[in-house]
Amino acid sequence: MNPRTIFFPCSFLFHFHIILFTLLPTITFSSLDPKFEACEPKTCGNGLNISYPFYIQGKQQPFYGNPGFELSCNQGSPILNLVNSQYIIQEIFYDNHSFRVSNIAFSEPNTSSCIASTQSLTVGRYRFQLAPNQRDLFLFYGCNLTSLPQGLRENGIGCSEENRNSWVVGMAKEDEDLELVKENCKGETVNATVEDVKDGVKEALKNGFLLNWNATNRTECANNGGRCGFDPDPATYAFRCYCPHGVHVFNCDPS
Ligand SMILES: *[C@@H]1O[C@H](CO)[C@@H](O)[C@H](O)[C@H]1NC(C)=O
Ligand SMILES: *[C@@H]1O[C@H](CO)[C@@H](O)[C@H](O)[C@H]1NC(C)=O
Ligand SMILES: *[C@@H]1O[C@H](CO)[C@@H](O)[C@H](O)[C@H]1NC(C)=O
Ligand SMILES: *[C@@H]1O[C@H](CO)[C@@H](O)[C@H](O)[C@H]1NC(C)=O
Ligand SMILES: *[C@@H]1O[C@H](CO)[C@@H](O)[C@H](O)[C@H]1NC(C)=O
Ligand SMILES: *[C@@H]1O[C@H](CO)[C@@H](O)[C@H](O)[C@H]1NC(C)=O
Ligand SMILES: *[C@@H]1O[C@H](CO)[C@@H](O)[C@H](O)[C@H]1NC(C)=O
Repeated sequence: MNPRTIFFPCSFLFHFHIILFTLLPTITFSSLDPKFEACEPKTCGNGLNISYPFYIQGKQQPFYGNPGFELSCNQGSPILNLVNSQYIIQEIFYDNHSFRVSNIAFSEPNTSSCIASTQSLTVGRYRFQLAPNQRDLFLFYGCNLTSLPQGLRENGIGCSEENRNSWVVGMAKEDEDLELVKENCKGETVNATVEDVKDGVKEALKNGFLLNWNATNRTECANNGGRCGFDPDPATYAFRCYCPHGVHVFNCDPS
């Protein structure tokens, strides 16, 4: 057999495959708006999807989220920085614009690490607000746990990073043993916000509390197949709905 007759169809088939496999995906996907594609939800690794108005710095483009809603990742968890304190985002409720955070200081995966000094919560007035019905605990630093009655020792959150021989003790503000604890703690007292204390102070601090956010409601955009974003261009500087085939003001409805 003439080798040419074999070679030619093979070569043709080979090229046909190249054409098929390189061109086809471009044809299929290039019709999607690049901003829509870039705005795919991302996770820090623990499975919690991060969507508008939040965005992960370095993983999602700034035009994805609202200014001030940038997050970072730490060991798989999304982290929000609020005035010198880092908060782990535990849950996000996109429907009612609220999310649950806990101070990273209380979320150590094991008990061998001590608790760093913390600060009372400071949220602004415009971007985030404390949700209704959250409560404060007192956190006493520099406590001598062994001098406390047995029943109160379970309020010990952990050793204090500044002085590993002393403890941090959390108390509900209305607890009748407040004075007793105060007498046995030499350090500072700070407030820590929690949602409830039904499972004890330690669990309460790990679970954290609810914040509300103030940003354009994304429901209309998301229900229409859009991914919500923010156009940081000074000429626009507003919410935008990134749709599969272009950028819209409110939703993907072309009309
Ligand atoms: C997170 O987002 C991805 C991509 O949109 C989706 O496939 C997945 O089901 C989402 N996961 C959760 C837990 O919502
Ligand atoms: C957002 O809009 C939807 C539909 O219009 C509405 O049901 C929802 O309550 C709104 N959410 C907030 C937090 O305003
Ligand atoms: C928002 O909805 C979630 C889930 O339904 C709920 O647990 C949470 O308390 C709500 N947030 C506020 C601020 O009420
Ligand atoms: C406990 O956590 C600390 C700090 O996060 C880490 O250095 C240490 O290796 C952990 N210990 C165990 C047993 O996981
Ligand atoms: C929400 O944010 C807008 C602009 O960012 C601001 O004008 C408005 O006062 C804020 N609303 C609340 C309730 O803080
Ligand atoms: C803590 O209290 C116990 C009992 O009152 C006492 O023996 C111990 O010396 C105290 N520890 C420190 C570090 O003050
Ligand atoms: C801490 O809580 C106390 C009592 O509820 C309150 O008077 C004080 O203003 C709070 N401090 C801060 C910094 O929030």
